[in-house]
Amino acid sequence: MGFKLKTEISFREDIPERIAAIHDKKVWIVCDGFLNGNPLLEKYKNALSIANRVEVYSDIVPDPPLPKVIAGIKVFNQVQPDVILAIGGGSAIDTAKLINYFAHQMGCSRETRFIAMPTTSGTGSEVTAFAVVTDTETNTKIPVNEAAIAPDEAWLDEDFVMKCPKKVTGSSGMDALTHALEAMVARGANHFTDGIADKAACNVFHFLEECYGDNPSREARIRVHTGSCIAGIAFQNAGLGISHALSHQLGSEFHLAHGLANAILLPEVIKYNSKDPVAASKYAHFARIMFFAPRECTDAEGAEALVREVRRLAANVGCGQKLHELGIEQEKYIAAIPTIVKKAQKDFTYPGNPIEPQVEDLVRILLAIY
Ligand SMILES: NC(=O)c1ccc[n+]([C@@H]2O[C@H](COP(=O)([O-])OP(=O)(O)OC[C@H]3O[C@@H](n4cnc5c(N)ncnc54)[C@H](O)[C@@H]3O)[C@@H](O)[C@H]2O)c1
Ligand SMILES: [Fe+2]
Repeated sequence: MGFKLKTEISFREDIPERIAAIHDKKVWIVCDGFLNGNPLLEKYKNALSIANRVEVYSDIVPDPPLPKVIAGIKVFNQVQPDVILAIGGGSAIDTAKLINYFAHQMGCSRETRFIAMPTTSGTGSEVTAFAVVTDTETNTKIPVNEAAIAPDEAWLDEDFVMKCPKKVTGSSGMDALTHALEAMVARGANHFTDGIADKAACNVFHFLEECYGDNPSREARIRVHTGSCIAGIAFQNAGLGISHALSHQLGSEFHLAHGLANAILLPEVIKYNSKDPVAASKYAHFARIMFFAPRECTDAEGAEALVREVRRLAANVGCGQKLHELGIEQEKYIAAIPTIVKKAQKDFTYPGNPIEPQVEDLVRILLAIY
């Protein structure tokens, strides 16, 4: 299994030098719509040498639907970029990754350098070889998992998240926590992923509430922004589990934000996975180092303490609801459960779970979160 990281990561202070080195290139900025007219985007555009040709594309919507990716490939073919600078949340970065990947699959032989700059602290898409596209005909989220999709570079500038709205901060932060806690116990976990999953989860637990509050400090934003990136590296190497396998289906069936769906599922999934002794011991180890539980606690007590703290954090960042509180009708939900289960079992994240669940286990989790 090993440990791989293709993407070179730069922090805010390193970026000016990186930008200055881009010369005589066709630069295609693929960015989130909220950045249109935003001074930060202008700052980056102006920092590029006038010897480059720069074009901006911002036809992006959340949870990238296939038609938007196809539309983007047509524009890619007109622009023929040397450099793609993808700036935005997971949806914008995933859209750019998919456009770039499919354009090359379809015959583009040009070498394109792909740089990702996240504006949410959550998905870790800036370092992963995944991108998620929504098939609007079957209402299914389809992951594309290809080594070539991973960005060449990730630029982490916390300025982009300093003013991120509370709702996006809360749900994307809970997505990052879910990446870390699923990677911690996933089947592909090893000592390297264990260490960084602990660090990523620790950053989120210590600083997400401040980020969600009024006037968060730069330090808090940096901690959650880097935590999210580290969690991406952890899950890219270790895998994920049934929180993601189910949340992908809840997202496409009921249009729930990805991080919110994970926040609702995660406590039930930790409870379920604690039946596995290795998973329980890892959860308990993390609970002890975070002082969620006393050093002498049993693994079961440690895992319970972690569930309690995940629920507390989710509630404090606006993600503590049950599904019925989000306006999802009971009858419609119950009727959708067999489809959700069937699709979850085929999701690429499903095999990473430490225990292979039975259908009844998944149904029990889905009923518990309603
Ligand atoms: N590729 C991966 O490894 C990976 C991992 C997890 C999730 N995902 C996918 O990523 C998507 C979710 O991404 P996300 O949680 O980052 O949300 P998002 O990209 O869908 O953005 C949510 C909303 O917030 C806005 N937004 C983003 N940054 C902002 C900012 N700084 N200020 C103001 N508004 C801002 C966006 O315009 C959008 O309306 C889902 O499709 C999910 O399936 C991908
Ligand atoms: Fe996720």
